[in-house]
Amino acid sequence: MSLFDTNVLLRRRDALAAAWRDEPAIVLVHAGEPISIPGGQDQTYDFVPHPEYYWLTGSDRWGGVLAFERESGFLHFVRPVDSAERLWEGEPDVPEGRDRGELENWLAERGDRDVAWLGQPPTSGGPRRELERRLRNKLDSVRRPKDAAEIEHLCGAVRATVAGHAKAREMIRPGVTERAVQIELEAEMFRHGATGTGYGSIVGAGTRAAVLHSTPGARVIAPGELVLVDAGAQIRGYTADVTRTYPAGERFDAEQQAIYDVVLAAELAGIEACRAGTEWHDVHRRSAEVLAAGLVDLGVLRGSVDGLLESGAIALFFPHGIGHMVGLGVRDVGGRLAGRPEGRRCCGARVRVDLPLEEGFLMTIEPGLYFVPALLDDPMNRRTYADAVAWDALERWIPVGGVRIEDNILVTAEGPRNLTSEISK
Ligand code: GLY
Ligand code: MN
Ligand code: MN
Repeated sequence: MSLFDTNVLLRRRDALAAAWRDEPAIVLVHAGEPISIPGGQDQTYDFVPHPEYYWLTGSDRWGGVLAFERESGFLHFVRPVDSAERLWEGEPDVPEGRDRGELENWLAERGDRDVAWLGQPPTSGGPRRELERRLRNKLDSVRRPKDAAEIEHLCGAVRATVAGHAKAREMIRPGVTERAVQIELEAEMFRHGATGTGYGSIVGAGTRAAVLHSTPGARVIAPGELVLVDAGAQIRGYTADVTRTYPAGERFDAEQQAIYDVVLAAELAGIEACRAGTEWHDVHRRSAEVLAAGLVDLGVLRGSVDGLLESGAIALFFPHGIGHMVGLGVRDVGGRLAGRPEGRRCCGARVRVDLPLEEGFLMTIEPGLYFVPALLDDPMNRRTYADAVAWDALERWIPVGGVRIEDNILVTAEGPRNLTSEISK
């Protein structure tokens, strides 16, 4: 059964047809096909439909193509069931539509009109790249603001995530492994309706918290360490993305608490900045200012806050963007405003989104401070930031590892709404 009811799909398709009304090309949005596991014979990775196709059809069946022509609108071509599929997979859920095998004739009937492939094209880099880029930009702008049906699915994913993080908090204590925390966290999310995890759960204890995407392992949590947990439940493609950093024992030590307080203040400032019309880079800058001011107060950085942002010195400790769009997958549409160059950096970091915020955008806000040996021992960084960093003071802070706090913020007419505020921090 489609994840979305018919009226929701019709509304989305109408909005997209309006955005594409000046486009004479035929557009084919392809679900994608399973990817073989190397050396796995007939085994494939779990199939994930391309989000453009999924958003327009609510179907996770591979091989489907949603076709569009502006004269007649949308037409769905679906892969029919065969007996082998029934034998191995059971009765599948096939959306209404025409047999995918008829697509070629349908196209032939349309003569030599331009054809653009979106979704997961069967071949990439064809001659229509510029046309496809333009069509996708229009689709992205229709898809970015979340509609009510999406928020409802997200709230389900958030509920399961709340339960998972509560279980993780309960599990964390000295002597427990990162793996044990991961197992119980994920099991609890599944018990609360998750159909998967939104991404590989991150559990990093002690200095492993300084690895941005640390994979949980057999490492045992030691007394006095902190533990960073970044995990989100997924329900049929919709996912939350939440980070909390907890003490292994009753409370943080003085250094951990000082870093935690700065990150929390930066997070609250970032959330507060999530308002319609605000540039995403300015949200990043707002949090970076609080982080830089905090590190100056703690004697880690030296100089003016503006100078530390301008030179990129803050990125030695805050080396990633403030967040990204989230929802249908952990990296939802995002992107940049048409005409902006790719990869514009901000405060020394690569920031994934380069757009002004609009009502309905769901963004993660996830500042962090990390003491990463690979950055701090780098001779070039030592030279470039010789005066900006109190290098001799770092020894005291390195055992902290890292702190990140991440919430999922919906931009609304009334201001920022934190969907994940129930997870205590
Ligand atoms: N969970 C990965 C991230 O926060 O982007
Ligand atoms: Mn995360
Ligand atoms: Mn994130």
